[in-house]
This record gives sequence, C-alpha cells and structure tokens, in this order.
Amino acid sequence: MDRLDKWLCARTEHSRKEIKTWIRDGKVQINGIRITDPGVHVAATDSVFLNGSHICAEEFVYIMQNKPPGVVSVSRSDQEKTVVDLLPPDLRRKGLFPAGRLDKDTTGFVLITDDGEFAHRILSPRRHVTKTYTAVLRDPAGSAYREAFQRGISLADGTVCLAADLEYTDDPCIVRVFLREGRYHQVRRMFAALGNQVIALHRDAIGGLQLDASLLPGESRPLTMEELSQITNEQLS
Ligand code: URA
Repeated sequence: MDRLDKWLCARTEHSRKEIKTWIRDGKVQINGIRITDPGVHVAATDSVFLNGSHICAEEFVYIMQNKPPGVVSVSRSDQEKTVVDLLPPDLRRKGLFPAGRLDKDTTGFVLITDDGEFAHRILSPRRHVTKTYTAVLRDPAGSAYREAFQRGISLADGTVCLAADLEYTDDPCIVRVFLREGRYHQVRRMFAALGNQVIALHRDAIGGLQLDASLLPGESRPLTMEELSQITNEQLS
C-alpha cells in the first residue's frame, strides 16, 4: 500500500508537489469521500478520483492507438507531435512510450505502455510476436514476391531479413505482410529490394490482437483484460 500522493504520482503525469496541493485543496476522492491528507494509504480495491477523473489503479497501463499519419512514434519531441501527445488526459502518466516504432507516415496499431519488460517481449524477434501490415504498392506485387519473402529478403545494406509471409489481395497493388522482427523502415526496404515502392503502410495487428476497427485515426483506448492476457500468453509461448 502506497501513500496517496506517491500512488497518484506514479499513475499520472503530475509532480508530487502538484498532487499534494490538489489533495490539500480537496480535489481528490477515495471511494467517494474527499481526502485532504496526502499520507493516507490507498488499498488495491480503492477507487480514486483526481480533479473528477478516475485514476487507473494498475501498476502498468497498456494502450492501443490508431496512429494517424504525420505523428512520430516516440514519447517526447520538441518539434513534432508524438503518439503520447495524442493520448487523452485520463490515459496519460509518466514513463509512457510506444512499444515499437512506426514511421511518421505509417498508420495503424501502436501499443503504448510504461511496462518495459512487456515491450521487450513484444519486440524481441525470439518471441515471434508477428506484426501484420497492409502495404499499398506503386506497382503490382509480382508472383515471386511471396517466395522471396519466405526465403528472407536481402536489403540494400546486405541485411538478410527473417522469413516473412506475404498475402496477396484482390487488388494487385495491395498486399498483407507478416513480420517477426522490426528493423528500421523494414517493410519499405523489403519492397525496395524487389524494385517496388510502398506508397502507404498500415499496421493491422500485433500478434493475434487486431486494431479495434472502431478507433478513429488518433484515438486510443486501454487494452481489455482479455486482450492483455491474449498478447501476454503469445509472448510467453
Ligand atoms: N516497416 C516500415 O517500413 N515502416 C513502418 O512503419 C513499419 C514497418
């Protein structure tokens, strides 16, 4: 059990000093009762509100975002809007970062968390958590692409990619790509190695978790318990 000020500090983006002031000003409620002592202990089952917003009690948060184009996949940037900047105030807390980067112009599923070990397991090629992308290509996908992906594409700098899957769609210029690793600009460089060009790229899924189709570009929501245990089980299998 943590003191209220420490508990809130770990679960919001605010400083301990700000929080202490709010508590003393009566801006915090535990189980519907106004609390003005920062030293009160918070129990696991307590429901805490700060300035009228419910504060998620979990130690870590796991957020699904539908990244729009033009936003960078980092925690903080002085120049550009980041995926963390797009989070609504009630999902913000210190230490959030995207578990894996999408290029600025790539859209789709980004997982944002403050759990470093979880992120490592998602990203490690050894765990085989597949990332699924839809790529729009400049030229129709050749019939040899699928086999080339399965053999392992050699990038221009000599890097040989792990075997990947490619699925054709009804549109010859749109393919689905399944990767088990996440190199810089990987999908774009794989198609460049085949003499083609990616015009648009969207991440549809991380492991068995599909991006929620009801999330509009720029919107985010926490993973449900079921989604979290699904992806955690995949990481461990
Ligand atoms: N591959 C890319 O080329 N870009 C991304 O954003 C993700 C995978």
